[in-house]
Amino acid sequence: MIAEIRPARASDIDALVTIENAVFQSDRISRRSFQHLFRSGAATILVSGAGAAISGYTMVLYRKGSTVARLYSIAVALRHSGSGIGKKLLEAAEQAACERGRMVLRLEVREENERARRFYEKAGYRRIGRKEKYYQDGAAALRFEKLLSGGPQDAVIPGERAAS
Ligand SMILES: CC(C)(COP(=O)(O)OP(=O)(O)OC[C@H]1O[C@@H](n2cnc3c(N)ncnc32)[C@H](O)[C@@H]1OP(=O)(O)O)[C@@H](O)C(=O)NCCC(=O)NCCS
Repeated sequence: MIAEIRPARASDIDALVTIENAVFQSDRISRRSFQHLFRSGAATILVSGAGAAISGYTMVLYRKGSTVARLYSIAVALRHSGSGIGKKLLEAAEQAACERGRMVLRLEVREENERARRFYEKAGYRRIGRKEKYYQDGAAALRFEKLLSGGPQDAVIPGERAAS
């Protein structure tokens, strides 16, 4: 399937709930929360897929006045995992955050979710901390962040000599 990425529509909510329930065992986003976030204007929800068949989604949250955006969720349906869709969704999430003027994207991931940890590390995220008992079942979260293109990593710090 060609993984086109596009903003979610209200009619995608059933498919988002299906993926959420299939992929996550706990701390799932409910239908109500999807509906609320969809209408709030404080979230970007992007889906991958062709036509009505949704293979994955990602959600970025924004707070007013903050240059930091939060990658709240990313999930690819099991039968499509490992085929590059997650990477495309993550890049699209980063671009959306940039377009909203955010310079940093942060996220939490279950400490034992090694696959997702490697996925984020490969995409240039660095670990910035750990939160004990973050999830409903008591599991710890690792916090990661990435400076987005055009963010502070591209700025010249006064007094610093450029590497040669
Ligand atoms: C994590 C997740 C979104 C990745 O999506 P995906 O479509 O399977 O990943 P991709 O195929 O785009 O792979 C992207 C990169 O990660 C790497 N990767 C994927 N799975 C991997 C694995 N099991 N081990 C090591 N690397 C892996 C790929 O090699 C690829 O790197 P490359 O571009 O250098 O080749 C997906 O597996 C998923 O939905 N997992 C369950 C939900 C979840 O854990 N979400 C994140 C926490 S909120």
